[in-house]
Amino acid sequence: MLSLGIETSCDETALAFVDNGQVLGEVMFSQVDKHSIFGGVVPEIASREHLRKLRPLWENLLEQTNLSPEEIKVVAVARGPGLLGCLLVGLGFAKGLALGTGALLVGVNHLHAHLLAPGLEQKLDFPALGLLVSGGHTNIYRINSPLDFELLGRTLDDAAGEAFDKAARTLNLPYPGGIYIDRFSGFAEPDPDMFPRPYLDNQSLDFSFSGLKTAVVNHVRDHPELVRPSPLDITPDYRPDHELARVCSSFSLAVAETLQKKLHRAVMATGLKRIILAGGVAANSTLRDRIRELSLELDLHLVMPGLELCTDNASMIAYCGEILALHGLCHGLDLEAVPRGQKIPRDYSLVKPEKN
Ligand code: KG4
Ligand code: ZN
Repeated sequence: MLSLGIETSCDETALAFVDNGQVLGEVMFSQVDKHSIFGGVVPEIASREHLRKLRPLWENLLEQTNLSPEEIKVVAVARGPGLLGCLLVGLGFAKGLALGTGALLVGVNHLHAHLLAPGLEQKLDFPALGLLVSGGHTNIYRINSPLDFELLGRTLDDAAGEAFDKAARTLNLPYPGGIYIDRFSGFAEPDPDMFPRPYLDNQSLDFSFSGLKTAVVNHVRDHPELVRPSPLDITPDYRPDHELARVCSSFSLAVAETLQKKLHRAVMATGLKRIILAGGVAANSTLRDRIRELSLELDLHLVMPGLELCTDNASMIAYCGEILALHGLCHGLDLEAVPRGQKIPRDYSLVKPEKN
């Protein structure tokens, strides 16, 4: 069922075609350069960039895949959570296409799409535990089926990706900083005692990363020489000095061990033996190593997406939309965007008869 995926929830504008779980083509524009000088995503700039980029990307995608709009059966769009203005741009584009082509409109939960993304690479079995670690969320789910996600734990303050980005900002590294902290971690062994493992002293599956962020701020205040003069100095071949690298690897380890311990607890609490790791922070090498170790220790079946499928992309939206449509679920043109912090309703309509 040819599905077009539209992703505009934050600072990536992306479109993709997926058919029968296979990616036929994907185009993407990252706005990172537009926001990096501000040290974070500026919502107003982000929505304007989506508006500017969608049309040329759409033309590129059609050219690249040789597909025509009439062939599309499903228009799948990330409807939240995300930045409201950004989501609305994607929704407007999706509704216009669905109306013009007669394809089904399907609003996709961006977080569920992250967790199902590895299904584009391998078969997923359920029930499974899902650990979603991204820039805006750190959630543990019991996933009963691709349509049934039960939230078991979430962050009470900062998300893991946010903690990475704030730690990087404290060190004056470019935005988004997670990838730099990860890369620099490879240049030094971590000091396991440098930073705390937050919010483990309880039975809950919730997370709290704001204390870890404060620990980094305090450490850097005591060692001001760690702060880089400018993020612009950090070129792709930049080699950090030993102390900066040690802070990065110690920080990565603190986040990874915290996530590993909570996941361990979730396995014990639920008895589930299948794990799906997803979201931008799932690209982190220390975290991937730690979750692999946990899986070996507890004999778990671990699924981790390839690196491109960890961060925001449109293939995962197209794929999730295709699954929903195959289960007979879609939306009307009154589909609403849901900003971050609000619950996404299960407000599907039943699929109307397939167009000829
Ligand atoms: O899933 P994602 O692309 O967007 C959201 O839905 O939030 O995640 C982006 C987050 C950012 O905080 C970014 O710094 C982080 O993922 N990230 C990483 C790595 N790559 C991306 N964090 C740690 N290590 C990485 N390799
Ligand atoms: Zn995301």
